[in-house]
Amino acid sequence: MQRMSQMQRSTRRLSEVARHVIAPSGIVSTGWPAVEARIKDFGDEFDEWQRGASQLILAKRANGDYAATVGGITLSIPRQVAKTYMISRIIFALCTLFPNLTVLWTAHRTRTASKTFASLRGFAGRKSVEPYIRAIRAVNGEQEIQFTNGSIIMFGAREGGFGRGFDEVDVEVFDEAQILTEKALEDMVAATNQSRFPAGALLFFMGTPPRPVDPSEAFKLRRREALAGETEDAVYIECSADDDAEPDDREQWAIANPSYPHRTPLRSMLRLRKNLPSDESWKREALGIWDSDLSGSRAITASQWEATGIEVAPEGLQSFGVAFSQDGSRVSLAGARKHDDGVHVELVDALVGDVDQGLGALADWLAERWRKSDQIALSGRSGALVLAHLLRERKVPSYRIHLLTTPQYFQACQFLLDGVREGTVTHLEHEGQQVLDESVAVADKKTRGGAWGWSVTVPDGDETPIEAVSVALWAARTSKRASRVDSKMKVVVM
Ligand SMILES: Nc1ncnc2c1ncn2[C@@H]1O[C@H](COP(=O)(O)OP(=O)(O)O)[C@@H](O)[C@H]1O
Ligand SMILES: [Mg+2]
Repeated sequence: MQRMSQMQRSTRRLSEVARHVIAPSGIVSTGWPAVEARIKDFGDEFDEWQRGASQLILAKRANGDYAATVGGITLSIPRQVAKTYMISRIIFALCTLFPNLTVLWTAHRTRTASKTFASLRGFAGRKSVEPYIRAIRAVNGEQEIQFTNGSIIMFGAREGGFGRGFDEVDVEVFDEAQILTEKALEDMVAATNQSRFPAGALLFFMGTPPRPVDPSEAFKLRRREALAGETEDAVYIECSADDDAEPDDREQWAIANPSYPHRTPLRSMLRLRKNLPSDESWKREALGIWDSDLSGSRAITASQWEATGIEVAPEGLQSFGVAFSQDGSRVSLAGARKHDDGVHVELVDALVGDVDQGLGALADWLAERWRKSDQIALSGRSGALVLAHLLRERKVPSYRIHLLTTPQYFQACQFLLDGVREGTVTHLEHEGQQVLDESVAVADKKTRGGAWGWSVTVPDGDETPIEAVSVALWAARTSKRASRVDSKMKVVVM
């Protein structure tokens, strides 16, 4: 990856810096503008990705409630990125905008809670913030910031028993949320049932991937549900390096930490590296990498996939995509039809095992259809070259065959993810497509450098069906021919 200037790093969007962004449904507006204006008054400015995160956090539904008021906001973000910075600014703004807001800010450890209190106490002393502050108290383990309008933020450590027995709490922050049991959580969130905050209470779960020994049910559950597409009413944001990142690869530091190096300088990272006891803890806490015991994550959620399934394929200009696995032991063939409103994709076939034997038949199949279709796009190392050769042998003209470059492959993956999320790409929702459905269910983004490609998150998963569909979509999208087809071009078999 090329070195990016400070400006470029500040202007990257949330979707560019985060590995996962899961948004709640039904968003029609956001409480962010008023909060942003107040943060500006305080003298702070968010980076673009922080603005994106804040817009989601404060997103509202048509009834005026926060879209995430039920499921909460979960941030799996490494240390030294901006969790405390971002959430504290939002909360200070809310506290000054809304009278009588009660905020509970807990960390697992006393040390963390005290550190946060000390830093926010400093913030409260700023000239631009001070006029809103009535008092700051720090006695006998009680730490609080009181605002002139009756709002209050109380700080404490869960390991010290802090957080239970409150009522009428409007906002709760669970820092170090990777150490938090469901039971403890239930006891604490009960207090928000009586919140009178107009748009609903807000719960923040922020932390880093748990150690195997951490009691981490609450955090794991939220992550798992979000990645499985099982939640409609929560925000989930995850920043992390690639799973196989080398601990001292600074490009991976930059992937994991969108604030490095323009906000969090190199020396802070080096200090953290020194203070963390092992490579394992560094990978979790500084690079945000989850242990593989949490396999089964997916980039296209179940509900997004379901929402784009249709019963009857529309007609359109047809292209094909073929994807080989790295080792050449699997191959999938997909079709795409470009029409006026988008692109429809389908899996045609998936071969496993004796691929070489099957390639001849695959080439025959395509050779019978090339006249009635547009591009045939192939991806995946040696297998693609062999197939291209077989197609030429069968008199398929070279201009119809396209071997994808690596950047084009990455683009194909992005096309599918964006298309499904935006609803411009459809697929068939019947049993014949089960192999594709299964591939989509276990496919996640694997970043390489600045780009990403599909990768399966279970041991026996197959990435080639989702890749073939992506490649076919790429062929359809990049085709220069119009979507309109004359009757000769209509293809029956797909
Ligand atoms: N938009 C920003 N403006 C100024 N400083 C920022 C910004 N974003 C992050 N930082 C700085 O980055 C550092 C790490 O942020 P912090 O919130 O302490 O991280 P975390 O809670 O994730 O460990 C802090 O020094 C913070 O002030
Ligand atoms: Mg912090």
